[in-house]
Amino acid sequence: MHEQIIAKFNSLKEKQLSIDITRGKPDTDQLDLSNELLDISIPTHSEEGIDLRNYGEPFGIKEARKLGSELLDAPIENILAGEQSSLLLTYQTVLSNFLFADPVPWKNLNKPKFICPVPGFDRHFMMLEDFGIEAVPIPLNQDGIDLDAFEEVLKEDSEFVGILCVPKHSNPSGDTYADENLQKMFEIGSNFSNKFLFLFDHAYLVHDFLPTAEQKPLWSVAVESGVQNQTVITTSFSKVTFGGGGISFLATAGHSLELIKKVRTTMIICPDKLNQKRHVEFFKNADNVKLHMKKHADLVRPKFEIAYSYLEKLPKECGIFSRPTGGYFITYSTTKPIATKVVELCKELGVLITPAGSTFPKNNDPKNSVIRLAPTYVSKEDLEIAMEVFITSVEVAHLDIVI
Ligand SMILES: Cc1ncc(COP(=O)(O)O)c(C=O)c1O
Repeated sequence: MHEQIIAKFNSLKEKQLSIDITRGKPDTDQLDLSNELLDISIPTHSEEGIDLRNYGEPFGIKEARKLGSELLDAPIENILAGEQSSLLLTYQTVLSNFLFADPVPWKNLNKPKFICPVPGFDRHFMMLEDFGIEAVPIPLNQDGIDLDAFEEVLKEDSEFVGILCVPKHSNPSGDTYADENLQKMFEIGSNFSNKFLFLFDHAYLVHDFLPTAEQKPLWSVAVESGVQNQTVITTSFSKVTFGGGGISFLATAGHSLELIKKVRTTMIICPDKLNQKRHVEFFKNADNVKLHMKKHADLVRPKFEIAYSYLEKLPKECGIFSRPTGGYFITYSTTKPIATKVVELCKELGVLITPAGSTFPKNNDPKNSVIRLAPTYVSKEDLEIAMEVFITSVEVAHLDIVI
């Protein structure tokens, strides 16, 4: 058996491959779905008569906020429509609390800390690191955060200021939070402090490619739990229309809404209202966004199915993999502490995979086990080869074969 695996490894090496499956990006055929946006003709003024070409409307034009309100199921007065990146709105939310949180700005705390379910999104960890906020990991399960771990961690320190979650098709495991998990999270967090921030990066809100567990609109769960002033939800069209060419939305209330408005007023005189209008003209309403996402799903689903078909070939004792029904990533968790080795072996065969550890704060995966696979930004043919490389590398590393 070892000989067969070595022969497979060596034959793949001879191919001198060069395939990159590190980042979860839409492929060209997905971008083509929105080409109409490139030459859509739009009026110079908004529905309310605002000149879209000039400064003004720092919190977004009304029709874009209405679209955001439909998508996030929150009243329009709680919605802000921003520019091309939800990560920017997330960053601005952290910044606003860092500088101006009442009664104590986070910058004045001795050691502010955030709770981060893991595995998670590397840019979230980078962002918190920028502010000197410690990202404290807790496990993410298939139905949401490990609530016992959440409660335990909060008992340890009073300087926890928030939690940052991707509530649907989480990056990278694909896990979707159950309503009960969110309700309990709200209860525990708000008992800890009525300023504890529940920050949700809803990047994959409309990105199902297979039937997905029903989730109540997050905003209504927050309102029912009485934590809307402590809740901020962001999302964007980066993986709906164009990466960096879409528009973004944020939902919040009370002091959190005031804080984000404060930093944005200093920082951004107004978002790109023309692009907001272009997107509103293109989609008209949230139902059309969902129909558009079905076309994405038809392009993305076959790639995930290819990835699953290869991962199924691996012996169970090597590890387990997530089977998301949406989003952009799959995680493979090795049984042995060999994630770094697997990624190195893939690289030796010419296939680049997200560095092991990057789904944990400080790149520290204590079990050296989690590997993120991103099957979208590659042709089906190359994906088949990349997956062959991946499973071969897992087997080599698992059996500790010296190549
Ligand atoms: C969880 C998550 N949030 C945010 C982003 C980036 O979104 P945006 O382009 O809107 O900043 C990504 C992209 O990979 C992501 O996976």
